Amino acid sequence: MSAKLGIIGGGVMGEALLSRLIDQQVYLPDRIYISEPQAQRQDFLATQYQVNVTADNQTVVAFADVLLLAIKPQVFDAVVAPLELGRPLAGNSQRSDQLVVSILAGVPIQRLEAAFPGQPVVRAMPNTPATVGAGMTAIAPGNHTQPQHLHLARQLFEAVGEVVEVAEHLIDAVTGLSGSGPGYVAVMIEALIDGGVAVGLPRATATQLAIQTVLGTAELLQTTGIHPAELKDRVTSPGGTTIAGIAHLESVGFRSALIEAVRAAYERSRELGG
Ligand SMILES: NC(=O)c1ccc[n+]([C@@H]2O[C@H](COP(=O)([O-])OP(=O)(O)OC[C@H]3O[C@@H](n4cnc5c(N)ncnc54)[C@H](OP(=O)(O)O)[C@@H]3O)[C@@H](O)[C@H]2O)c1
Repeated sequence: MSAKLGIIGGGVMGEALLSRLIDQQVYLPDRIYISEPQAQRQDFLATQYQVNVTADNQTVVAFADVLLLAIKPQVFDAVVAPLELGRPLAGNSQRSDQLVVSILAGVPIQRLEAAFPGQPVVRAMPNTPATVGAGMTAIAPGNHTQPQHLHLARQLFEAVGEVVEVAEHLIDAVTGLSGSGPGYVAVMIEALIDGGVAVGLPRATATQLAIQTVLGTAELLQTTGIHPAELKDRVTSPGGTTIAGIAHLESVGFRSALIEAVRAAYERSRELGG
């Protein structure tokens, strides 16, 4: 890959992407420039990954073919306002084909395109498991985005998990499901652990059982492609233990609680301007 990657913001998500992109040789370290305000963090990133590091966002903008925004949404305006865009820069010229990829929650394509006029923009919504390479990212193209730009964006996020393409109006729905989903699953796992402890298991054993059960079930569904309802049917023998547990889940509205959780997060994402 000969494209040059610029990353603005070397925090949790910036580093997760950086480390795996290098590991998988999608980008070589000398083709990556990352900007980060904290000196200590800069030293860490430079030493750990042998990439170019700076405190100056403009340097990264001037360098990059693909510009990844990995800052907090709250600092978006402050970061973008001073950048010189769409004008020739000393020793380099700002090309309108520079792809801008944003992972900023709640910053719509319209704002990205206003900030980077004429440039192709992709809005992405990754989730936290991306930090261990098991992420789920949705990408949405902007108005100037060509297939090669989507390919470049897809390549970034495939380094940290799976990627789906959606129209931007579905990003709030994605936020409600895969964006917020790790929180729901964490609550469910914690409750399963407490349930195990309640019936006599040591907490460490209950934790191992709960996590591996969720992981294994997800892997089984993904590997075989069978419908979740079919798996449920297969594991419920007449008068058995699992149907007793499921009957209780149904009586307390577990299924509709999850449906409404996704809806509540979707609505909150819309309120926040997603
Ligand atoms: N983490 C997730 O699971 C997740 C999931 C989906 C979307 N996102 C999105 O990803 C983005 C980054 O999240 P994160 O969890 O990686 O946050 P984070 O760890 O706080 O990373 C943001 C980084 O940007 C740096 N920064 C702050 N001001 C800057 C500036 N003016 N120029 C350059 N860099 C600057 C911060 O440095 P300081 O620490 O010194 O301020 C920090 O290192 C957010 O917009 C979030 O919405 C994250």
